[in-house]
Amino acid sequence: MSLNLESAAPLTMALPKGRLFEQVQEYFAEKGFHFKFEKRRLVAHDESGLLKIFLVKNADLPTYVNHGIAGLGISGEDVLYETGLRFFQLMQFDFGSTEMCLAAREGYGKPNTIRTVSVATKFPRFARDYFYSQGVPIQIIKLNGSVELAPILGLAPYIVDLVETGNTLRANNLEVVDTLKKINVHLIANPSYYKLNYRRINRFVAALHSETANTVPDSSESGRK
Ligand code: PRP
Repeated sequence: MSLNLESAAPLTMALPKGRLFEQVQEYFAEKGFHFKFEKRRLVAHDESGLLKIFLVKNADLPTYVNHGIAGLGISGEDVLYETGLRFFQLMQFDFGSTEMCLAAREGYGKPNTIRTVSVATKFPRFARDYFYSQGVPIQIIKLNGSVELAPILGLAPYIVDLVETGNTLRANNLEVVDTLKKINVHLIANPSYYKLNYRRINRFVAALHSETANTVPDSSESGRK
């Protein structure tokens, strides 16, 4: 007789606060996984009991998954790349895509390659790698939000930031100078957690891929060969 102690517990998953959260919640509901967070609570269970979900700050999500506190997580490649951590990428979603862009005031154009350029960004690794690839020396000014203010107020002429609709750039008289990368949203797993729970996780992923709302995946890991 084999004991499957891990099968008794729900799968743990971290979801990011902010604009991605509502898209994830809607997508999961379409697939038959319903959950909601009671007022100010940061932990919830889906109605089937398969998932225990933590609501975390976007930039902290990889930390929770890396430490195995959440076995699974949903995150954009922007946040994942910045951490430099490695995860199993189980699935790419068709919602939440954005672009990582270099932007500046309208008509400012590309930076020249001789003088050091100041770049304000929430994403220093993206900015550094991009400018290195272009052979342009840079000084990175790390910000945590409202990055579009930097060129307007004279903190830095360039920003590297996410562009989704482009509304924030337009509203601040900025424009895209170059597109660094399309950013997709992924379901990620802690590698050790995946190895321990791969049957249930694979069934969960199959349910997410399915066109119709799922019947709840069997929560047992039994039948492992
Ligand atoms: C993100 C991003 C841009 C904006 C782009 O910021 O950093 O500022 O959204 O979206 P848009 O192209 O649809 O206008 P967020 O809303 O997360 O706020 P923040 O600036 O405080 O980080």
